[in-house]
Amino acid sequence: MDAITIIRAKRDGGALTPEQIDWIIAAYTAGEVADEQMAALAMAILLNGMTRPEIARWTAAMIASGERMDFSRLPLPTTDKHSTGGVGDKITLPLAPLVAACGAAVPQLSGRGLGHSGGTLDKLESIPGWRASLDNDEMLDVLREAGAVVCAAGAGLAPADRKLYALRDVTGTVESIPLIASSIMSKKIAEGTGALVLDVKAGSGAFMKTVEDARELAETMVEIGTDHGVRTVALLTDMSTPLGLTAGNALEVRESVEVLAGGGPADVVELTLALAREMLDAAGLTDADPARALADGSAMDRWRRMITAQGGDPDAPLPTARETHVLTAPASGVLTGLDAYAVGVAAWRLGAGRTRKEDPVQAGAGVELHAKPGDRVTAGAPLLTLHTDTPERFDAALAELAGDAIRIEEEATARTTPIVLGRIA
Ligand code: URA
Repeated sequence: MDAITIIRAKRDGGALTPEQIDWIIAAYTAGEVADEQMAALAMAILLNGMTRPEIARWTAAMIASGERMDFSRLPLPTTDKHSTGGVGDKITLPLAPLVAACGAAVPQLSGRGLGHSGGTLDKLESIPGWRASLDNDEMLDVLREAGAVVCAAGAGLAPADRKLYALRDVTGTVESIPLIASSIMSKKIAEGTGALVLDVKAGSGAFMKTVEDARELAETMVEIGTDHGVRTVALLTDMSTPLGLTAGNALEVRESVEVLAGGGPADVVELTLALAREMLDAAGLTDADPARALADGSAMDRWRRMITAQGGDPDAPLPTARETHVLTAPASGVLTGLDAYAVGVAAWRLGAGRTRKEDPVQAGAGVELHAKPGDRVTAGAPLLTLHTDTPERFDAALAELAGDAIRIEEEATARTTPIVLGRIA
């Protein structure tokens, strides 16, 4: 086997053989195939695509590059959720303890934010004392204690993807549906969950800007999961406007706790319940009632156990930013658009997100919404509050929110988009 033959085959539009795929992934992980060769192959895949058998094998080879976790000793069915990422997407925080309260185990390996979209670990790290890094035994202990664990993926999980994703990031080859799908699914399958629900987002604040692209990504990931024996379902959901009323780490934890206390914004509650029902169904727990678990406090109880088991203090006050700036509505009327990408970039500029993996984030920074599309607003009334420790960042955030980011019309011209746009199983 040699890399040049494999690159040429894909460059010329051919399908790679299972042996070629196994070899190139193993050799790249071992450092025997150079970055420039893998970059050329990733670009050929981006331009020419992969067949379903190629994608399944590519994913299997990435899984085989590292350890595969095994939760079969747990007496409960395991089920997990993965979101392709968006602005204000704090759903994992209420969802994991909620599903645990309904009788499933949720082993969730999560990531940090990069650019305009936030990361679950950054959000949870705003809780004083909470620890993202657990070894496999600690992860099992938290699962036994709380039924749900959210922690960082160790270096042993799909190391081929870790290396390839970093390479794709700097070679313009992230935006390939076969490569995105196999990257996400290799980690989720290696994580060892029995069932998986994908929240594939579409809109300005998402990876996939159109519903068509989101549908293709969702179908590809559902096929991969199915081919690997994981019960996999995807919901296509709207990301044209932020989810809930907050974007930013501690701000989103506060909102998640409101949901667990039986309140919170309607869209966050609706999506949390929709995903919980799918996760429980996929785990075979069809009689569970997640709405009741939110209302009767049992989901909140699991949250407190989960946070405490990872060193956090669920009663500690959350960090708040040192400075705030209120952006008022420029006119009276109906808010018909509040662009997710603009709000996400504004939160990032305020210090909630990072540009490089090693950058720190501000726990209290972010954007708070006082109205959602469809709401009536009055000229001069607060529309957004910007939060940061570093007020010199306000101008950059305000610049992102200028222009078309906020639309107010005399009357609503269109219906607001539903949160769930489709389902793929
Ligand atoms: N997230 C991943 O884990 N991989 C991708 O390729 C894109 C998003």
